[in-house]
Amino acid sequence: MQQIYPEVLTQGEGPVTPRHDPVLLTECIQYLNLKPGMIVVDCTLGLGGHSCELLKAVSPGGHLYAFEKDERNLKVAQKRLEEVASEVGGTFTIFHDSFSSLTDRLKREGASRADAILFDLGLSSPHVDDAERGFSFLKEGPLDMRFDPRQTKTAADVLNTYTEKELADVFFYLGEERASRKLAAAVIHDRKQTPFTSTLQFAEFVSRVLGRGKPGRHRATQIFQALRMEVNEELMALELGLNQAIELLAPHGRVVVLSYHSLEDRFVKQTFKQFATDLRDPTDIFGARVLRLKSLSLLTKKPIFPSKEESTRNSRSRSAVLRAAEKL
Ligand SMILES: C[S@@+](CC[C@H](N)C(=O)[O-])C[C@H]1O[C@@H](n2cnc3c(N)ncnc32)[C@H](O)[C@@H]1O
Repeated sequence: MQQIYPEVLTQGEGPVTPRHDPVLLTECIQYLNLKPGMIVVDCTLGLGGHSCELLKAVSPGGHLYAFEKDERNLKVAQKRLEEVASEVGGTFTIFHDSFSSLTDRLKREGASRADAILFDLGLSSPHVDDAERGFSFLKEGPLDMRFDPRQTKTAADVLNTYTEKELADVFFYLGEERASRKLAAAVIHDRKQTPFTSTLQFAEFVSRVLGRGKPGRHRATQIFQALRMEVNEELMALELGLNQAIELLAPHGRVVVLSYHSLEDRFVKQTFKQFATDLRDPTDIFGARVLRLKSLSLLTKKPIFPSKEESTRNSRSRSAVLRAAEKL
């Protein structure tokens, strides 16, 4: 049984041969502790690199559920998964949706528990490679940056409509940019003359306002990342998705998260820690009343990083951080 949602997937053809080497693949599989018959969820299907291995590991008898916001990636992954499924007798279901709908989507499929859940956050290689998607500050393209083009808000909308304070917050909190206020003020000033429409136009503007940056690192790197996270509401999706994932796990079920940004990693670390300790009532002066019993044990006391060999082979893996936990 293979189900794809929703019907919009019958429209148009996606690219057929893009590559995206799955990051920390062996480690993900090890920490997820998969066995035939299990229910596994890949919250970020991408091109299906991790999912193909997850499907093999739970087949026969198991099922893979996967979420992907980007229709083009989804189509590539779907083809790859169909091949794997026929080789190993596996079954899978793909949702063209955000993983923030995790519980709802699985419940509607009659799945109230999962044995293993993977998040591989952020964007994929085809997003950067395709100039038309507007993720790259090195290629001319529209300031778009939407994972799912059914959404309306683009990066250009953020730059051309947000208030100065809202822009400064995006640059400061999501881009960790110290000169966030200076940049926001300059955006407000310049957009009155010429609205921001293209990636190179904005990248050059950032260099002009903030300086060129260190050799090998364009000053726009963090700013583009901040815009992307804002456009796709990535931190909010992570908060919603991770909390649901922990809730959804069966006893001894495992969750693995790959993050590429210190904000994401900090959030994952704190969330795991919160669920790995009893939540006590702060109004109880004896500190004895427990509001929520601990429900996770940490499998990675220290985060896992890619080996030197992997970082050299796959430059995208360089900033990856893996954290894993098990449901009690
Ligand atoms: C790092 S890539 C995943 C790569 C994948 N593990 C593979 O091996 O090919 C992240 C993917 O997650 C998707 N994505 C990002 N946020 C999402 C969300 N909230 N819900 C569903 N998919 C999301 C992106 O479109 C992207 O394709």
